[in-house]
Amino acid sequence: MGKWYCSVCNVYHYDDEVGDPKMGIKAGTMPDDFPSDWKCPVCGATKNKLKPLVETEAETTNSTSQREHKIKIIIEKGADNPLLKPELAQDYGKPLGLAGIGSGISYLNNFKALEKVKLRTRLICDHQKPVMEKDFFGIRLSLPLFASPTGGLSYFENIEEEDFMTSVLTGCKAAGTVGFTGDTAKDFQVHPGITAIKSVGGHGVNIFKPRSQDTLIELIQESERSKAIAVGVDIDGAGSVNFTLAGKPVVRKNIDDLKELKRSTSLPFMVKGIMCESDALVALETGADIIGISNHGGRVLDSTPGVADVLPNIVKAIRDTKKGKKVVITADGGVRTGFDVVKMLALGADHVLTGRPIVREAVPHGAEGVRSLIDYMRSDIEKAMIMTSCNTLEDINSDILYDI
Ligand SMILES: Cc1cc2nc3c(=O)[nH]c(=O)nc-3n(C[C@H](O)[C@H](O)[C@H](O)COP(=O)(O)O)c2cc1C
Repeated sequence: MGKWYCSVCNVYHYDDEVGDPKMGIKAGTMPDDFPSDWKCPVCGATKNKLKPLVETEAETTNSTSQREHKIKIIIEKGADNPLLKPELAQDYGKPLGLAGIGSGISYLNNFKALEKVKLRTRLICDHQKPVMEKDFFGIRLSLPLFASPTGGLSYFENIEEEDFMTSVLTGCKAAGTVGFTGDTAKDFQVHPGITAIKSVGGHGVNIFKPRSQDTLIELIQESERSKAIAVGVDIDGAGSVNFTLAGKPVVRKNIDDLKELKRSTSLPFMVKGIMCESDALVALETGADIIGISNHGGRVLDSTPGVADVLPNIVKAIRDTKKGKKVVITADGGVRTGFDVVKMLALGADHVLTGRPIVREAVPHGAEGVRSLIDYMRSDIEKAMIMTSCNTLEDINSDILYDI
């Protein structure tokens, strides 16, 4: 008798006492006895990737440090080296799980782009403990890292969207930062992202898919009533697989649409999903307060470059304009460690987001897993700042990188 987790995605969990009725696996079945063509419903890995979950020690000793230790082990095991995981490309006709669309190249390119960025060790100076606090629309953050908006987890895990999103927001708040919520194609009375935001007293950002203008404006205004910190649209959600499969229209937005959405709220407004200079300049023109440079973790268009590849030119195009001096720029895609966070900052982002690692923690470990992951990444940001002689976030710039 026992529990197993998928060592590829770290999201899928199996308990042989319960079985997996959704997949036709009866209680009492051991993973070895699964059908030979069994695939993880989240990432498509084969059954030999299911590993025993060694959680009992932490549960019975009830020790936080041991639990954190376990969580770290799981994070390390699950630190996805995409080159080892061909399963991460989309399985035809299935919801994406944690995979990348098509061949998975856009997903891979996020890692390859970050891998090319090399940090310069610079040590000889007076030692000081690095300070990484930062303001975000009136909130004092303890570090420049957010949880990316993610949604749709209820498609492939036995978890409610609302519970998942609440765990993300609660864990982020506990770690001194802010979680973003994603969207779901499932029907709801109150959007789960909005319910989650209410449950943490507004401490979060709601990002909605590019639905019809009327629906979006209603959601944005509801989010404002829930006292969210900011609100926005992932314009690249126009390529969403789950929304298409659910028959819910998600569409491209033009400049007037985005201006209308921005005007519909007094909250800071984010346009997420920018991958080229021309879109960035139009987003600026709409009055957006936050521009999210992102290829959606490689989930919406095959064969895009990695985010770290395009980030410096997009930042330059934005900052070269008068309006673009103050806009907040975020970057996400392939960020797995605090060192990756520092690389994205050095390439010009103001704040960095991480997606799948948060999902991997929030589903099995809830808010505590999210908090622990962020603290773990914080310690690597600090290490990177010490080793590159950066005492403050303002010190992090292209000088700490070798030429790329
Ligand atoms: C399971 C999953 C669901 C996602 N859902 C959304 C969403 O609803 N809205 C959104 O803006 N981005 C969504 N994203 C994209 C993330 O916000 C982010 O751009 C991406 O995960 C970053 O790449 P990373 O996972 O390599 O860190 C989703 C990503 C994943 C993996």
